[in-house]
Amino acid sequence: MSNVIVVGAQWGDEGKGKVVDILTEDAAMVVRFQGGNNAGHTLVVGGLKYALHLVPSGILHPGKMGLIAGGVVIDPDVLIQEIETLRARGVEVSPRNLLIGEKAHIIMPYHQALDQAREGQKGDGRIGTTGRGIGPAYEDKASRIGLRMCDLADLNFFREKAAAAMAEKNCLLSSLYGLRPVSLEEIMARAGLWAEKLKPFIGDAWAVLRAALERGDNILFEGAQGVQLDLDHGIYPFVTSSNPIAGAAATGAGVAFRDIDGVLALVKAYSTRVGSGPMPTELTDGTGEFMRKQGAEFGTTTGRPRRCGWLDAVVVRNSVALCGADHLAVTKLDVLSGLKELKIAVHYLLDGEKIDFIPADYRAVERCRPVYETLPGWEGDISGARKLDELPKAARNYLDRMYELCGAPPALVSVGPDRDQTIILHEYF
Ligand code: GDP
Ligand code: IMO
Ligand code: MG
Repeated sequence: MSNVIVVGAQWGDEGKGKVVDILTEDAAMVVRFQGGNNAGHTLVVGGLKYALHLVPSGILHPGKMGLIAGGVVIDPDVLIQEIETLRARGVEVSPRNLLIGEKAHIIMPYHQALDQAREGQKGDGRIGTTGRGIGPAYEDKASRIGLRMCDLADLNFFREKAAAAMAEKNCLLSSLYGLRPVSLEEIMARAGLWAEKLKPFIGDAWAVLRAALERGDNILFEGAQGVQLDLDHGIYPFVTSSNPIAGAAATGAGVAFRDIDGVLALVKAYSTRVGSGPMPTELTDGTGEFMRKQGAEFGTTTGRPRRCGWLDAVVVRNSVALCGADHLAVTKLDVLSGLKELKIAVHYLLDGEKIDFIPADYRAVERCRPVYETLPGWEGDISGARKLDELPKAARNYLDRMYELCGAPPALVSVGPDRDQTIILHEYF
């Protein structure tokens, strides 16, 4: 296989950063194709931790190209900070290994302000967004009033476009939300800095991707968020504003379906979710707390505690089917060590009726009662396992059942955050 899409099969934070980092060893290029700096992808190598938001997760491998494709929305301040932090830690980040697509949209300060103002006003009905301006930036893209990375090449044109887009935003910010309007001069001062720092990285990402495809290079497409947060297929409105399904690599990066050889769905061995919205297998008891503690389940981007619960096979089956996943990468299996028994939701009861799908109306999802299958747990530290037969029998049994219930075999099992703490079962390249 040469071109593989990596997606999160749950609500994000499945460990995409770790897995993309591992697979990059044998790839030439890593492409982010949707989402923005709402993503937080963690890499741990030799005990050192790196948190990435926009830079593709292959960056620690010298000589590999990272592309931020046009489907991504970028907060330039966050990207500049990320590049500087990586450099300060001795990681090369230069136009030789990072290319920012000129068609990628910019998250403007007014997008962030609006995201936060709306969430503040919604009270209990809030989505629990990351507050990074993702939704408003994608809205402007669809409304055709967005600013793009290529616009930084001509700051006079940038000013005109920003002024036009801002008129409406400032009206909303001041009249509806009682907030200070955003100043064009302040925005232009920042845009000057963005242009100075980022111009060397901005280019035609599609042309570079196309050339790599024609050379037959191995390419990884790195999804952000998770399928259950998909704008079209997730539990609306408790979703993000982009499409984390595998198909979005086609629109976001500009890759043809026939160029894709494989889809790898990342599945945490249990469930987590940050933000609001239904989560049928959520545990608000000591077991949920155990998962949060053992799994260090606190958001990489916002630091919020993640909601935890049992593995939901209805969710993962749905994601595997939506993405055409041929393999699973099972992560954080080590976190379950020490639990006497484990549960997997195999279907739901909705108003007493057995169902095998996720209803469209979120209120119906809230009424779904998971029906569980119970499996024996295991004891002890499994983070040293590098082969399946080094795992306790109950852990292997749990993986087998995941495979049967979720509809795809595991290609990889992760037993700890570090790059090395991994059992490889299938070579992608
Ligand atoms: P992503 O958004 O999908 O890239 O995932 P995040 O990086 O936000 O969250 C996953 C967290 O779990 C990170 O802190 C990882 O370092 C950590 N992690 C990844 N795989 C494993 C694993 O197998 N075991 C444990 N204990 N931690 C893991
Ligand atoms: P990674 O790539 C987990 C969630 C937010 C919120 C909803 C909408 O690290 O897996 P947004 O700011 O996107 O408008 O928020 O989506 N969310 C994530 N949850 N991991 C992520 O990314 C997420 N990106 C957004 O918590 O519920
Ligand atoms: Mg994350």
